[in-house]
Amino acid sequence: MKEVVRTAVLGLGRLGYWHAENLAQKVKGAELVTVIDPMEGRAEQVARELGVKNWSQDINTAFHDDTIDAVVIVTPTSTHAELIKEAAKNGKQIFVEKPLTKELADADEVIQVLREQNVNCQVGFMRRFDPAYSEAKKRIAAGDIGKPLYFKGVSRDGNVPHEEFIKYSGGIFLDVAIHDYDIARFLMNQDVTSVHSSGSILLESNRFMEKYNDVDQGLTYLTFDGGATGDVETMRVAPYAYDIRGEVVGTEGSIRIGSMRNTDVNILTAKGSTHDLIQDFPSRFQDAYLLEMIAFIESVQKGETPICTAVDGKAALEIATAATQSFLSGEKVEVKSLSQKSLI
Ligand SMILES: NC(=O)c1ccc[n+]([C@@H]2O[C@H](COP(=O)([O-])OP(=O)(O)OC[C@H]3O[C@@H](n4cnc5c(N)ncnc54)[C@H](O)[C@@H]3O)[C@@H](O)[C@H]2O)c1
Repeated sequence: MKEVVRTAVLGLGRLGYWHAENLAQKVKGAELVTVIDPMEGRAEQVARELGVKNWSQDINTAFHDDTIDAVVIVTPTSTHAELIKEAAKNGKQIFVEKPLTKELADADEVIQVLREQNVNCQVGFMRRFDPAYSEAKKRIAAGDIGKPLYFKGVSRDGNVPHEEFIKYSGGIFLDVAIHDYDIARFLMNQDVTSVHSSGSILLESNRFMEKYNDVDQGLTYLTFDGGATGDVETMRVAPYAYDIRGEVVGTEGSIRIGSMRNTDVNILTAKGSTHDLIQDFPSRFQDAYLLEMIAFIESVQKGETPICTAVDGKAALEIATAATQSFLSGEKVEVKSLSQKSLI
């Protein structure tokens, strides 16, 4: 058992900062040795804020530092494949943000390198660690709703990322709906066999997405290898909240996940009853981001396979790639290689 896992965070944008903060301040057994980002001044700024001793603009610094055990990759999706391979070849244990890679072909190569180098890689599907989703998983596995028959996922986020991000994001099915594809496999404990998807641009302010063959609203109909079906509604439109919900309907009941509430307070006036609504992903998933990082560090300490592996990352990517093809062609698309399991 390794006492302290020496880590580096690569990429300090929207999410990288949160992972760095957790590793620097909240994850027992982790030491954040360095933070790295190619944007001038960013790494130094984050290092000073979080009290981290080292920083760099050169991503390769972490790979060639023998004292670093693990890297946390939170860079743009298009960079994941190369960075994972480089990290693995240098013997670093890896946490990578979703999606595993942008292209499916790269996912196979990445998995092969990870196997050759005997390195583990956890993929950042944090919903698996969210207390509500994780409780739902336990209840479904315990048979509380009978045999799962139907999955419903809703992800609506009105905080549209900047255009440069959309340009390289791989589109709404790969960037956003992929969370629901992963949690659908995880909760149903079944692989997805086919998808049929569609989408549109609902808001004029999102019209720029057309340039990238992207939309602000997508719908995916899923079929599973155990006979179940499901749907995933994905929107970059939500003028009221960061709205993430899930439901699994079984032969003996249904389990619903997500209430959108920040605090359990109702304000009652003559006009009616109101309560707050969560507005962004760091608030909704702050526990999940911390819990997934705690699990990652523990898996490195114990030398164990993490809960959400690169094989799971590839499975979700296959579904997202098929959903994108289906959206572009208007046809139902089979999900070809049922992904050598590892659902839990
Ligand atoms: N799990 C989640 O809920 C979740 C949420 C948001 C983002 N993400 C994922 O995290 C990753 C980063 O997303 P983000 O929203 O933080 O992006 P971002 O654009 O806010 O930040 C990316 C950072 O990486 C740096 N960078 C740019 N090019 C780089 C390169 N070639 N090599 C290394 N670093 C580079 C940038 O300077 C920037 O600071 C993406 O893969 C995204 O899909 C996951």
